[in-house]
Amino acid sequence: MADTLNAFVTGYPIGHSRSPLIHGHWLKSYGLNGSYRAIGVAPENFSDFVKGIRQSGFVGGNVTIPHKEAAFGLVCKRDAAAEEIGAVNTLWFEEGELWGGNTDAYGFAANLDALSAGWDKGRNALVLGAGGASRAIVYALKQRGFTEVRIVNRTLDRAQELAHRFGPGISAHPWRAIPELIPDANLVVNTTSLGMEGKSEQQMDLSNADGDALVTDIVYVPLETPLLRAARARGLKVVDGLGMLLHQAAPGFERWFGKRPAVTSELRELVLADMAKPVAGGQAR
Ligand code: ATR
Repeated sequence: MADTLNAFVTGYPIGHSRSPLIHGHWLKSYGLNGSYRAIGVAPENFSDFVKGIRQSGFVGGNVTIPHKEAAFGLVCKRDAAAEEIGAVNTLWFEEGELWGGNTDAYGFAANLDALSAGWDKGRNALVLGAGGASRAIVYALKQRGFTEVRIVNRTLDRAQELAHRFGPGISAHPWRAIPELIPDANLVVNTTSLGMEGKSEQQMDLSNADGDALVTDIVYVPLETPLLRAARARGLKVVDGLGMLLHQAAPGFERWFGKRPAVTSELRELVLADMAKPVAGGQAR
């Protein structure tokens, strides 16, 4: 029998990760001889962990918060998306060398392709937030032909830095500019942690939004964020963030286990059921 192919997800903390559930589902569905497990690694140990991946018997793995930028600096080679985004979320070996890729932009676009075909016909996008997640979204939007990407952020400097990084067509704006920017947007994307469970309610007036605009959020806990709720109430198209999580996992799975997995409604239901499970303290996670 062939050796088991072993992969991992590492972050710190890592207990919240649903990646083992997603990859475990695919391994079982396709009857593959593989494993995928979560490994918590503190920042001070991350470099040693990466150096030991091969020796520990892994064919690769995923990297999540807070290690994505550190992983960028530790790999031998990077794919174009990782290079542009400045962060790595997927590791694998090619001809003995450790490669780092970034599948977040792919996951974002693939989810919209699946749930709102034609979303990339728009040219004007409004992106809320300018952190690590926003970089992947802005890259995806540029790749998919958006010529006017407006980034708003509470801290204007960070939006300016991002706009500068991605060049022509990408501009930075203060948070208060949102009402003026909304009417032109074909697509509104929230990348901030506002609206996440436990954070304060996000107030967003969408009354003057274009009736054909699509509104999406990369936050998926809760599934319906305040922004998506406001968009739905206004009759706009909405796509939640859970599909991005599912789609971003697919390219890594294919690299490690040799099979391109499908993102199905069964998988989505599995993750939703897990999210509904109560955890210590009585809250759903
Ligand atoms: P991530 O990698 O998830 O993007 P991050 O780099 O910490 O995480 O970025 C978080 C984003 O959420 C930032 O755009 C942040 O705004 P600042 O750059 O001004 O910090 C945004 N954010 C977080 N809390 C916020 C709040 N209460 N109001 C507005 N924006 C907020």
